[in-house]
Order: sequence, then C-alpha cells, then structure tokens
Amino acid sequence: MSDLSDVPTAMSDVRPAGSPSEAPRLPVRRLRVDLSRGFDRLWNGGDAFRTHYLNALSMSFPVGEQFFIDAVRKGVSLLPEAEQARWAAELRGFVGQEATHRFLHGQFNAELERQGLRNHWQHWAAKRIERSARLHPVNHVAVTAAYEHFTAVLATGLLTHPEWLAGASPELALLWRWHAVEESEHKTVAFDVYRAMGGSERRRIFWFAYIAVQFLFESTAQTWLNLWHAGRWWRPSTWGQGLRFLFGARGVWGASLVPLMRYLRPGFHPAQLEDAAEAAQWLESQRSVYAIVGE
Ligand SMILES: [Fe+2]
Ligand SMILES: [Fe+2]
Repeated sequence: MSDLSDVPTAMSDVRPAGSPSEAPRLPVRRLRVDLSRGFDRLWNGGDAFRTHYLNALSMSFPVGEQFFIDAVRKGVSLLPEAEQARWAAELRGFVGQEATHRFLHGQFNAELERQGLRNHWQHWAAKRIERSARLHPVNHVAVTAAYEHFTAVLATGLLTHPEWLAGASPELALLWRWHAVEESEHKTVAFDVYRAMGGSERRRIFWFAYIAVQFLFESTAQTWLNLWHAGRWWRPSTWGQGLRFLFGARGVWGASLVPLMRYLRPGFHPAQLEDAAEAAQWLESQRSVYAIVGE
C-alpha cells in the first residue's frame, strides 16, 4: 500500500545533511532505519499502553497522509497560476515528507499485523474519504489543516516529553522523533494553502471541532482494540499506565489540551505555536541517521 513514488530517489540527489541554516525549508530526509527485521511487541519501554497508543496512531498514518498529500496538491492546483509557482517548493517538501512518513509507517504497520494486531482505523478513514469525495476541495484542505494541527501539537509533546518514549527501542524512538521533527517543520503548509484558497475562519473552526471529536473516538477505539488483540486490555497495570500516560503530570492531555484549543481562536495561525528547541537539537545530533534526498 505504501510506496515511495513521491520521494526523490536518484542517488545523485543524496547528499549529507547540511546544517539547519544551509538546509532547504522542508528537506525530504531518508531515515536510515530498517524495520524489516521486526521489533519487540512491547517496543515502548515494555509499557503496553504507551506501545499500543502509538501503534494506533501509526495505523492511521498511511491512509491519512495520502489524503493530506492529495488535498494539498489539489488545493494548490486550484490557485491562480502565478501563485501555484510560488507554492512549488513548499508543496514538493510537504509531499516528500509525508510520502516518506507513509512509507516507513507502512513498514511499521506491516510488522504490527505480523504481531497479530488489526488495523481498523485505516478502514474507518478510507470509508470517510470515499464519502467526502463530493465535498469542495477547500473542505479537504480544512480537514488536513486540522489534522496537521493535531500532529504538530503531539509532535511538540513527543519532543519535549522524553518519558513518552522512555525505554523505547532505539530505532523506533528515531522513527517517532524524526516524524515529529518534520511535522513541526511543515505545520503551516496546509493551513496557508487553506487561507490562499480563501477558506473562512468559520469553516476552519467547524472542521477542527469535528476532527477533534473523531480523533478522540478513533484513537481510543484503536488503542483499545490493540490492547484487546494483544491480550492486555484487562490488566490493571495497563490501565494504570494509560492513566499516567494520558492524564499524568507530564502526560498527553496536560501537554496538548491548551495548544490544541488555540486553533479555535479566530485569527490563529500555526506559526504561533512555539517550535520545540528539541527539534533543532535532534537534527543536529542525529545527522548520521538520515540523508537529505530532496528539497
Ligand atoms: Fe507525517
Ligand atoms: Fe504532516
């Protein structure tokens, strides 16, 4: 299902990662990880809840990220021609980054299937995408911008809360942090395309509220299904882990609720979210694990 057709692959395009200041705004990075050898069932520090919550998120990525690519491409194609040219580099970077995420999370998800988990979220999303095909493309870009806000906020949480990946297998910690860094990098793209299309504040906020409820329901349901397939849902220790991870002092809700809700304010722009210093540090300290393959 996943492929790398959207990612520059010519070897001549591969060059060592430059310093952040030399790098293009949205470089496409090839991460040097090999997921084909499989990984531990409780890869996230032996913590069943943290493992299966992130597994659930990963399950939604390949279908979701293809939808984001299609929506933003279509949105740009509807802009006046002179504006399209100005969007070319930004669009190439966004598409390349999301296509690489799709590819690696597709490999990650294939291993989850081998471990006996079932990806229901992808079917819920695919059906919804099919049903929404007749809506005007500005709605698809609004939905993409809403999801991109979720991913940017969760990405900042992941980068600033090392405990979310405490004890994780090193390769998988790399995968999640690389994805988080790039989500922070391209957090404004869908939003700016939406504005360039003339999308209204009311429509933007409506779709965010809709997506928020849907995301909450689907992430909870897929996490529960993962725990059920893994035979872990009934253990009190699993729910203790869940309470800590979601609602603890440095948990997901505490880190995310306020920045997520900022999207509801009229006049909000994702550039108002502070970038985590950890993103730049990651790019600097992990140069050996990625190559820039496109810009
Ligand atoms: Fe992504
Ligand atoms: Fe994204």
